[in-house]
Amino acid sequence: MKIAIGNDHAAVELKNQIMAYVKELGHEVENYGTDANASCNYPEYGEKVARAVAGGRADCGILICGTGVGISIAANKVKGIRAAVCSDVTTARLVKEHNNANIIAFGARIVGEELAKDIVKSYLEAEFLGGRHAERVAMIEEIESREG
Ligand code: RB5
Repeated sequence: MKIAIGNDHAAVELKNQIMAYVKELGHEVENYGTDANASCNYPEYGEKVARAVAGGRADCGILICGTGVGISIAANKVKGIRAAVCSDVTTARLVKEHNNANIIAFGARIVGEELAKDIVKSYLEAEFLGGRHAERVAMIEEIESREG
């Protein structure tokens, strides 16, 4: 898969660890995040990854900031994006199976390297279950379409 990754200053080290891991798993990864430790603005990177995914330049995305929250909120403002914050492997699997999340997010100040890797693996290996879940995802898309 082609994976877009993005981060702010809080997550440079974890982003590099996750990029290496994703490559080890056999995926292609494109870095849209900052590589500097200087304070920056997470919405910029959330939007970059969201646009790459929504525009079809990546199959899915990984976003990392301090908590995973701000960067995922920003990404979710882009039409067609379902970005989910995951701090455990079960949530990471279920956001793909049930919500067809196209971006996962987590916090470099919340999860350590090993848990972050397990979260990523769990998400990447899961598959959307469709059926009643597809109907619910369609309802989310309908809400989005009413926003114009
Ligand atoms: C940056 O200090 C921090 O606010 C950011 O990384 C993130 O946690 C926001 O949600």
